[in-house]
Amino acid sequence: MKAIKVGLLGLGTVGTGVVRIVEGHQEDLQSQVGSPIVIEQVLVQNKSKARSLAIDPGKLTEDPWDIIHNPEIDVIVEVMGGIEQTKGYILEALANGKHIVTANKDLMALHGPEILQKAQQHGCDVLYEASVAGGIPIIRTLIEGFSSDRITKIMGIVNGTTNYILTKMSQEGADYADVLKEAQALGYAEADPTSDVEGLDAARKMTILSTLGFRANVALEDVDVKGISAVSREDIQYAKRLGYEVKLLGIAERQDDYISVSVQPTMVKQSHPIASVNGVFNAVYVYGEAVGETMFYGPGAGELPTATSVVADLVAVVKNLKLGVNGKQELLSYKEKKLKTDEQ
Ligand code: NAP
Ligand code: HSE
Repeated sequence: MKAIKVGLLGLGTVGTGVVRIVEGHQEDLQSQVGSPIVIEQVLVQNKSKARSLAIDPGKLTEDPWDIIHNPEIDVIVEVMGGIEQTKGYILEALANGKHIVTANKDLMALHGPEILQKAQQHGCDVLYEASVAGGIPIIRTLIEGFSSDRITKIMGIVNGTTNYILTKMSQEGADYADVLKEAQALGYAEADPTSDVEGLDAARKMTILSTLGFRANVALEDVDVKGISAVSREDIQYAKRLGYEVKLLGIAERQDDYISVSVQPTMVKQSHPIASVNGVFNAVYVYGEAVGETMFYGPGAGELPTATSVVADLVAVVKNLKLGVNGKQELLSYKEKKLKTDEQ
């Protein structure tokens, strides 16, 4: 029973969760895939940094090529973040026949088609469940669960940091800047939290969801984006008095061959279930022509919820390895079809 060897790029919030789940659930993972899963090497920026978990220092490296060019490594789990440099690592890893699991929505929203095409060329998997809505398995659900339907609308709260901030401002009258700091300390926010509060993180996630849901190639620049930095405590309290909560909503709609995608602070009636999605929780509504309305709810960020999705992808890659079907699934591919958007 040959062990599956994993190279982990990043040992921050998500990477730490990945190590904890792979180690803590090893027996159960092994019973599903038939092999031990071993974290063989870990890329960090600073090997001397204090860590919240015990890890064999011999596994740490500051040189990405140690992992990418290591012939022993079967799968690379990318949880370091970043765009252009990280894309270079992933393309090189694919060229070296490594399968990829990533939580990186920035990368997938901007370069998903190129990365997935390269993966197919090399017979590799690239799975990215954790890139949207943390612990909610929404990507798999959109691709597999709705394959029989025609999705007309996807709407939801897809950023945990801003929902955490808006909830605290609404329920406790808390100060925006203080709560943002709390969200950062809890590991919810991006390295640069501007992308959370200005709506870019949510826009990247809506790009991925609408591309997959509508089976079209939606580009990030097609998304209309407005964040929450201009929303004041007074706005939120005033909305409450009128019977509304303010939520940062992503909305993607399709009518015939026309798609519109937006992210903006929205007044939601308190009687609507999405108004009760609080804290770091996310919720995604998917409307299908046949199924009607469905709702998916769960933690949208944080160490273990996000790592759950990452490790589920890892299990899927290993199962594909056993079946010899890596790089063959149509299911996670972007389609080339481009529908009309607002700009056209
Ligand atoms: P993080 O806590 O900032 O951790 C990043 C890790 O990557 C750190 O271990 C850091 O090393 C390492 N790293 C960063 N740049 C590097 C470089 N150039 N070379 C070598 N190592 C580097 O980030 P995170 O919150 O875990 O997020 C990681 C990814 O997951 C991002 O793409 C993020 O968007 C995505 N994501 C995060 C969450 C969440 O809840 N946090 C949820 C879903 C998706 P050091 O430890 O030495 O500094
Ligand atoms: N910063 C992101 C959020 C992490 O708050 O939703 C999860 O993608």
